[in-house]
Order: sequence, then structure tokens, then C-alpha cells
Amino acid sequence: MADLEKALEKEVSRRSFLKTTGIGLGVAAGALVFGTGMVGAQAQTGTVAEAPLPYVELDPEEARLRGHAGYYQAGCSFGAFYAIASMLRDKVGGPYNQIPLRMLGYGRGGFANWGTICGALNGASAAINLVCPDADTNKLVAELLGWYTRFPFPSAEATAIGVAGGFKYTTKQYPKIELVTSVSDSPLCHASNAKWIAKSGFLLPSPERKERCARLTGDVAAKAVELLNAWKAGKFVATFKVDDQTAGCLSCHAEDQEGKMACVSCHEPH
Ligand code: HEC
Ligand code: HEC
Repeated sequence: MADLEKALEKEVSRRSFLKTTGIGLGVAAGALVFGTGMVGAQAQTGTVAEAPLPYVELDPEEARLRGHAGYYQAGCSFGAFYAIASMLRDKVGGPYNQIPLRMLGYGRGGFANWGTICGALNGASAAINLVCPDADTNKLVAELLGWYTRFPFPSAEATAIGVAGGFKYTTKQYPKIELVTSVSDSPLCHASNAKWIAKSGFLLPSPERKERCARLTGDVAAKAVELLNAWKAGKFVATFKVDDQTAGCLSCHAEDQEGKMACVSCHEPH
């Protein structure tokens, strides 16, 4: 983590030095006065806006590459957030220069390795919430989660890149092999990993399982970017619906529990 913080700090200083942040003091002047060391988030005064930040169309394939690299830096949650937030830094700058990229690090392994919500979903959703008003955030995030529960991870796109050794931003060694896919039927890290492990035979600490989650992180970041692009273009349409069995359960249990997860993954039908 210390290395990550140092690396990201350097990136922030460099970018801030090269272009103005668009808020607060002019950074070019600040850089001359204070030197690059002061020209990061610390040099800013005032409060960051609470309004959604500007979004411009991003490239989902670039998000897939950055998400994969981010996974190997500090985990799935960091990776998915980093993929989107760093692209917005590059294309929009301004307030995105003030957001610490490390802030989603806690989400790894389904929230500090508790296996709850998949960290890639957590990180991508945080990025969605940065740019969308609340009502739209809920729609996009719900769609992302619904898609995730039925998607066979890792994607064919990610595996093609991996087999070709094409994850160009990933500095660590990673297995450049085909990986079996599995459907989690759940947004939980626990179910997602356990099902893939059972199907593939690769245990949690194996490089292959980590690579599976690295590819998944890129896939989730790419999907989130696709959703955001559609939303920005005014073309987002929610498609996820709970399965018929879950809809049946909800016809009686809409008010004594919260959620859209497939009920029978945990409860016996009655
Ligand atoms: C026709 C209405 C109805 C449907 C459909 C229904 N339930 Fe229930 N369920 C009930 C009632 C009534 C109870 C008992 C009262 C209570 O505890 O709320 C109950 C109890 C439960 C309980 C608590 C069990 C316990 O031991 O107290 C769970 C968990 C549950 N249902 C899950 C489900 C799931 C999962 C589905 C779908 C596969 C489902 N229910 C479908 C009406 C329904
Ligand atoms: C990830 C696992 C999981 C999923 C998925 C899940 N539940 Fe639960 N549910 C639990 C746990 C754990 C509890 C609390 C312990 C218990 O009472 O079984 C609970 C409690 C309940 C209760 C209250 C049980 C009681 O004792 O009165 C109901 C009703 C219920 N769930 C219905 C549902 C319905 C309907 C769905 C699908 C929309 C669903 N659950 C999905 C894990 C799950």
C-alpha cells in the first residue's frame, strides 16, 4: 500500500504540474511558488462540489486494461474505481485531480476480505455515483449488479487480451492462459469466487484465481463505462429483471426483507 500511495502521489503531482486543475488557485502559478511537492490535493483550498462531476464519453476497452492493472496494484475495488476515475482525470481533469484514487482500496475481497459485495462492483459504483445524480446512480448500479449476477466471468474479450499478453499497463507477471468461466448468480464476492473455484479447481491464493478476478475487474469497469456512455447519450434503458422464482418470493416478501438477490441461493423455497 505504501508503494501504491507513493506511485499515485507522484502521478497526481506530475499531472497537476502539467495542467491547471480548473478550481481554486491557478496551479501553474502555484507550482512556481510552491514547487511540485505542494501541488497536489494538499495545495487546494475550498470544498469540492457535492453536485455530480462532469462526465465525457470514455473507452470501455481502455477501462478493461486499466481495471486489470489496478487489480494488481491494490485489488478489485481499487482497480474498478481507478480505471474510471483515472480516465476522467486524463480527459476532464479539474475536480478529478482532487479525488484520491486509493479511497476504494478497502473494498478488496468483498470489503476487507469479508466476501460481501464484489469489490469491482463497489469501485465501479463509486465512480458512477461521482458523475450521476442519485436517481440515475441507483438505476445504473442496479443494472450493473443485475448484469454481473448473470455474466460468465471472465469475459471472452478479457481472456483474449490475457492469452495474447496484451494487458499493457499490468506491471506484474500474470497467467497468460484461457480461464474457465462461471456465473455467480449473486453480487457477492463469496459466491462469485466460490463458484469459480469449484468449477476451475484453482484455489483462492492461486495466481489463476487472482487473474480471474483481475479480468473480472476490467470487465466490470468496461461494463460500467458502457452504461455511463449510454446514460450520457440519453440512451440508457434498464433491462435487468429478477428471475421468475425470485419475483414469486417477492410477491409475498416485498416488505419483510430488502433486496433483489436470487432468494434460493440462500433460502429453501417453501
Ligand atoms: C404466498 C406467499 C409466499 C410466497 C410466494 C413465499 N413465501 Fe416465504 N413466507 C410466507 C409466509 C406467510 C411466511 C411465514 C410468516 C413469516 O415468517 O413471515 C414465510 C416465511 C418465510 C421465511 C422465514 C422462514 C422461517 O423459518 O420463519 C423465509 C426465509 C421465506 N419465507 C423465504 C421465501 C422464499 C425464498 C420464497 C420464494 C422461493 C418465498 N418465501 C415465497 C409467504 C410466502
Ligand atoms: C446471501 C444470502 C441471502 C439471500 C440471497 C437472501 N436471503 Fe433472506 N436471509 C438471509 C439471512 C442470513 C437471513 C437472516 C437469518 C435467517 O433468518 O435466516 C435472512 C432472512 C430472511 C427473512 C426473515 C426470516 C425470518 O427468520 O423471519 C426472509 C423473509 C427472507 N430472508 C426472505 C428472502 C427473500 C424473499 C429473498 C430474495 C429476494 C432473500 N431472502 C434472499 C440470507 C439471504
